[in-house]
Amino acid sequence: MPILNRAAELQDEVTGWRRQIHSQPELLFDVEQTAAFVAEKLREFGVDEVVTGIGRTGVVGLIRGKGNSARAIGLRADMDALPLSEVTGKPWASKVPGKMHACGHDGHTAMLLGAAKYLAETRNFNGNVAVIFQPAEEGGGGGNLMVKDGMMERFGIEEVYGLHNLPGLPVGQFAIRKGPIMASTDEFSITVTGRGGHAAMPHKTIDPIAISTQIISSLQLIASRNVDPLQSIVVSVTKFNAGYASNIIPDAATFGGTVRTLKPELRDMAERRMREIADGLAAAHGAEVKVSYNRNYPVTVNHADETGHAIDAARAIAGASQVETETDPMMGGEDFSYMLNARPGAFIFLGNGDTAGLHNPNYDFNDEIIPHGISYWVKLAESRLGTA
Ligand code: NI
Repeated sequence: MPILNRAAELQDEVTGWRRQIHSQPELLFDVEQTAAFVAEKLREFGVDEVVTGIGRTGVVGLIRGKGNSARAIGLRADMDALPLSEVTGKPWASKVPGKMHACGHDGHTAMLLGAAKYLAETRNFNGNVAVIFQPAEEGGGGGNLMVKDGMMERFGIEEVYGLHNLPGLPVGQFAIRKGPIMASTDEFSITVTGRGGHAAMPHKTIDPIAISTQIISSLQLIASRNVDPLQSIVVSVTKFNAGYASNIIPDAATFGGTVRTLKPELRDMAERRMREIADGLAAAHGAEVKVSYNRNYPVTVNHADETGHAIDAARAIAGASQVETETDPMMGGEDFSYMLNARPGAFIFLGNGDTAGLHNPNYDFNDEIIPHGISYWVKLAESRLGTA
């Protein structure tokens, strides 16, 4: 079964919504306009329940099928943009300086609205479909907040599915894998405090820069010597601040970065080793050290059975040869991970074609993929809930 006819018919209308959302990007939880647009559309479609303000500015619509089942499946899109200045020059480019939809969340929202319109028209399923529109995917943990607000229980959601466009993957293709598909994203900051003084009399100082560089180079050993080479981890120091003059050794130096892994136990190990290395090297040189390690998004782990259901739906739409079922995981993060920690489900990539990469000021969501995304959501919902 290829793209649904009705989904193809909806393409122009959904493209219009997508470009409207694209031109008015909003950041993190401040997605009031976008959320209001989503809620208005859902009401217009005759969605049975439209609840706003979940996870601060998230929206959930519940569409009841024809049968009596109370089972619900959750389909999730994200609504927030990024703090970037768009350079595409497209007629629908961002009208807000310094903000743009550079991750395609405008397209995710529009495609899920398209699926909601279809499902509210047809209702050819036994149970309920919850369409979930979350704020603050790009660093605010909006998905986590929606889960904490009791979204899963309130709408009886038993399974939850997410989708993200992927530049470089051809239009009409899907990619997925069971198990970890996106990394955990932790941040750390380390401050080394020594004793400043004259650069010409280093023996009278405790040089925080020299000690920091030893810590930084030793942190590289976490990936190269503490982790099985067949496992994945990133430890990147991405900033370093110290000093202000060429003839003064400063009192302190601060540096920080990110740790990414595909296994929860590797996060624990990385944090422990980071503290041991920093404490040990600081002590060896008589300095003080303070390590702060913040756990952000967990690993996005696809559940085995639900990954199978996602593959079946994608194959039904695109054909078996167009679905990569063993794709490599990525070291970027996703806060859909919180929803997958709350309920079984799966996260899939949909090809955006040969476009600029995500988080790039040249990026634009490819409207050609809209019918593929809508058809996937519809097929997944109908096949998981069964016909009435
Ligand atoms: Ni994204």
